[in-house]
Amino acid sequence: MSRSAHPAGPRYADVLPEGHWTAPATDLNVLDEKVWSRTVSRDADGALTVGGMEVARLAEEFGTPAYFLDESDFRARCRAWADAFGPDADVFYAGKAFLSRAVVRWLTEEGLNLDVCSGGELATALDAGMPAERIAFHGNNKTLAEIERAVSVGVGRIVLDSFQEIVRVAHVAQSLGKRQRVQIRVTVGVEAHTHEFIATAHEDQKFGIALAGGQAAEAVRRTLTLDGLELIGIHSHIGSQIFDMAGFEVSARRVVQLLAEIRDEHGVELPEIDLGGGLGIAYTPEDDPREPHEIAKALGDIVTRECESAGLATPRISVEPGRAIVGPTAFTLYEVGTVKPLEGLRTYVSVDGGMSDNIRTALYDAEYSVSLVSRSSDAEPMLVRVVGKHCESGDIVVKDAFLPSDLAPGDLIAVPATGAYCRSMASNYNHALRPPVVAVRDGQARVIVRRETEEDLLRLDVG
Ligand code: LLP
Repeated sequence: MSRSAHPAGPRYADVLPEGHWTAPATDLNVLDEKVWSRTVSRDADGALTVGGMEVARLAEEFGTPAYFLDESDFRARCRAWADAFGPDADVFYAGKAFLSRAVVRWLTEEGLNLDVCSGGELATALDAGMPAERIAFHGNNKTLAEIERAVSVGVGRIVLDSFQEIVRVAHVAQSLGKRQRVQIRVTVGVEAHTHEFIATAHEDQKFGIALAGGQAAEAVRRTLTLDGLELIGIHSHIGSQIFDMAGFEVSARRVVQLLAEIRDEHGVELPEIDLGGGLGIAYTPEDDPREPHEIAKALGDIVTRECESAGLATPRISVEPGRAIVGPTAFTLYEVGTVKPLEGLRTYVSVDGGMSDNIRTALYDAEYSVSLVSRSSDAEPMLVRVVGKHCESGDIVVKDAFLPSDLAPGDLIAVPATGAYCRSMASNYNHALRPPVVAVRDGQARVIVRRETEEDLLRLDVG
């Protein structure tokens, strides 16, 4: 494709005078494999390749900014989770991290189940052929229309989040002549060590029904009396981007205690528990995530031990990782637009995207790393802040990082580990066009979510 036909418009390289460019250095820069997807490496010229494809070529063909998703890494992570938990447990991929029809097909093929939390996610899952019985439906305020759709298509489970919802789902199921399999989401009172906005098991927040004060036990009582509902288990999700297994262990212990209380009071042993998602990934080389087999072992051991001591049969365990599957599989590729050194402070590197394609830095103070990927460089490192093109000074993509001091407009830089919660939380702020997601595998690249166009924006504008 010629430069003038570049899908995201003309590139800086087309308009900047000759000689502005710094000659590429010959040394290879080391990419830390912790933060990059598995098929990423540098070629002999120092350019990054993913799935056997070179980034400059990808930028040429698909434009920037764009998310590039390493499909074989995604599939390998699905298999690693499924293998680690084995046939007596279920892995539900949390679609909120990133969902598209292609992703649903990969999940279906790799034998994973899917957690959805809105009518839109449910529609995507069904449209792409995920069998309804492999879908779990979540949310703290599901609409009646969402509940009706979920029950009528026969989702495998609905996770009940409030007393009102118990009645609502029972009513819908009964009026459709169905008995809906449900779990009750409980808040176990754990303070997860993560950002306040993504911690969900302390008592003062909107999700679930508290174990404290007998609330959850009361929810179980009411659910068991309703004909439209089949209570299959208890659900707990303590938060997101968590490294410390201690919170999960406390949560598992408290959920098993509730199972024992239910057995004592009602004479029923619920067959399932779901311990949610929330496992952390490496955004920077300092992060040290657990592997799926370590997580499966830790959770399996604690549930088995607690059940033995309570005299319960071990229930079927399910988990709902989103970030841990898709997060590490993608990077965002940007083109450098301006490089602005601020004497004695740092250099501001502005890219062609920003908080519209990655809100996580502004929202959670999230940390990311960044690399020059269109070439290697042996220039001195310089302290940079990678910022976007939006009209906000908080429009920061990477707060503090080092890039080579010969960085110039037209260079491609990439932010790894942006597979989760970046495209799914992307916005049209400043009427930005949301970037495409391109799946790369074995020397082939294909768009799985296309770039938005101005027509897309204007289509919603009435009058
Ligand atoms: N299950 C439930 C019930 C959840 O609420 C979530 C995430 C997950 C599973 C998946 O969690 P994961 O394994 O992906 O951590 N936007 C935030 C994260 C919000 C997570 C919401 N719930 C972020 O960008 O960090």
